Amino acid sequence: MNYRAWVTKAAKQRMLLETVDLGPLGAEDVEAAVEHCGLCHSDLSVFNNEWGISQYPAILGHEVVGRVTAIGSNTKKGLKVGQRVGVGWYSGSCMHCHQCMSGSHHLCPQVQATIVGHRGGFATHIRAHWAWAFPLPEKLNFAEAGPLLCGGITVFAPLAMYAKPTDRVGIIGIGGLGHMAVKFAAAYGCDVTAFTASESQLDEAKGFGANHAVSTKDSVALKKLGGTFDLLISTVNVKLDWDAMIGTLAPNGRLHNVGVVLEPIPVAAFSLISQQRSISGSPTGSPVAIETMLDFASRHNIAPQTEHFPMSAINEAFARLESGKARYRIVLDADF
Ligand SMILES: NC(=O)c1ccc[n+]([C@@H]2O[C@H](COP(=O)([O-])OP(=O)(O)OC[C@H]3O[C@@H](n4cnc5c(N)ncnc54)[C@H](OP(=O)(O)O)[C@@H]3O)[C@@H](O)[C@H]2O)c1
Ligand SMILES: [Zn+2]
Ligand SMILES: [Zn+2]
Repeated sequence: MNYRAWVTKAAKQRMLLETVDLGPLGAEDVEAAVEHCGLCHSDLSVFNNEWGISQYPAILGHEVVGRVTAIGSNTKKGLKVGQRVGVGWYSGSCMHCHQCMSGSHHLCPQVQATIVGHRGGFATHIRAHWAWAFPLPEKLNFAEAGPLLCGGITVFAPLAMYAKPTDRVGIIGIGGLGHMAVKFAAAYGCDVTAFTASESQLDEAKGFGANHAVSTKDSVALKKLGGTFDLLISTVNVKLDWDAMIGTLAPNGRLHNVGVVLEPIPVAAFSLISQQRSISGSPTGSPVAIETMLDFASRHNIAPQTEHFPMSAINEAFARLESGKARYRIVLDADF
């Protein structure tokens, strides 16, 4: 069977629509016809080979919503042809290592990224191991659900791991991930501060549920917030005044990074030691965390604010994200 996909042959090369031979379906794999796919900044970083891990030809797209078209003979009971599923940043793991056996499949040494050495969702079809194809709750708006599968789980996981509803939480960077983080943290019951470099977004961040909004460039405001936050989740991929940000952490506070900043984050040991603070990071989330996040999003009506483009405008959509104009998540709708 032939499939069509938007393919890039080398870093920064315009994507072209091509016919691809996917070969036979693996016994443990699920195939779905793509309906919508969100555009995450990680797609852009792989497109530009910013991390040096890209493999070409590449088929990008890892916030996928589609309908199951085929299931392998050994897939999970309950997955049916025609059912709506989502696929995120990972689409497979070994299923037998210590991490997989303890439910942390996203930490498996052999975990398979959906868009590196695997075909992603900017295509007619997507394939994934059954453990990584998530049935979507009926109540979700499927056209808007794609970004939950990568951006959503990436910010939900640290909240679920580290935040209490009584905590003061700061979200740094109000882009695709950041605006969903504000919504999740507000629904969780936390007192939420949005940190943004774009003054024009201060009010919009409050519209997403932030109790306070502060400019990351306002050093006086950052100083005033010294010792405040139990948890900071950074979604930016640029250098900030890290000393000032760490200074806003309360005793036992944590700066958690999900944004891929290429420059090292310098930290003075004393500022961690004296206040018992920590710095950490995490990759998306486990399959169970993703299911929990989908259920939570469905119960609290949490959906990203999106701009839709037909998938045939994929090159223009990437350019828009790169220019920093996307508000707040681009979703491409399949139009093959
Ligand atoms: N850990 C994981 O598993 C995981 C999963 C998904 C994505 N990511 C990474 O998370 C990061 C964010 O992804 P995204 O899709 O949310 O990207 P995005 O929509 O482009 O948002 C990034 C935000 O960073 C801030 N920013 C960007 N350029 C800046 C600059 N020059 N100066 C100051 N602030 C700037 C902006 O927020 P303000 O304008 O509000 O300051 C921007 O909205 C990326 O590095 C992505 O690769 C990681
Ligand atoms: Zn992503
Ligand atoms: Zn494993």
